[in-house]
Amino acid sequence: MFKVLGISGSLRESGNTEFLVRHALSLLHPQEFQADFISLRGKDIKPCNGCYNCVEAKRCTIPDDFDPIYQKMVEADGLIIGSPAYYASVHPQLMSLLDRAGFVRLWTGDYFSGKVGGPITVARRTGQDLAFAQLLMWYFINDIIVPGSGYWTVGLAGSRGARDASKDEEGLRHIERFVGNMARVIKALKAANSGSALPQEGYFATRYWKARDEIG
Ligand SMILES: Cc1cc2nc3c(=O)[nH]c(=O)nc-3n(C[C@H](O)[C@H](O)[C@H](O)COP(=O)(O)O)c2cc1C
Repeated sequence: MFKVLGISGSLRESGNTEFLVRHALSLLHPQEFQADFISLRGKDIKPCNGCYNCVEAKRCTIPDDFDPIYQKMVEADGLIIGSPAYYASVHPQLMSLLDRAGFVRLWTGDYFSGKVGGPITVARRTGQDLAFAQLLMWYFINDIIVPGSGYWTVGLAGSRGARDASKDEEGLRHIERFVGNMARVIKALKAANSGSALPQEGYFATRYWKARDEIG
């Protein structure tokens, strides 16, 4: 059974981002995939304060709701991350989670390497591209494989916070194609990595990592 985690970075109850991330998860076959959903609504996720404690502690030492979510991210084979576009950026609370998750991962090992996933963004009008690109940058630097779709996986919402992403049939279709591709890649990786969707430990111990360890 593969694990796929969907995270919604919107703090609004039953918002469009939550709808689209939940929709993506609902498309995974329940006999093959365990789909978990986390909303950042009500969670205390402080921004990274740059203390670098994670270098030695091998975890983030800021006391809030970060760690259980990070553990779920580490355990997942697939990671779908959704954000509303706020002034053409990823929601700041979500970015706090991703900054810290990426930085802890950097000092603790290749925990995200070989995972599969991709972003979903929601906007009323414009600014999608920058928020979407921001998330793609995060996936790339964390060594996560992003399958494509027929279009970018963005959803359109109505004006004044309307919760109407379900009407965006085109957006839903592209998310469906992305999820189908994601499921296929996760399963193909299982075949390639002899039983596990994630690579064997040390598989990604590239020269970069060795050099980093030597330099300290
Ligand atoms: C503070 C704020 C900033 C926003 N910035 C943008 C923006 O840059 N571009 C846009 O098209 N919509 C923008 N919106 C609209 C939201 O992206 C839109 O309502 C979306 O549905 C929110 O996602 P949610 O329903 O999951 O909360 C903004 C909304 C808020 C509250």
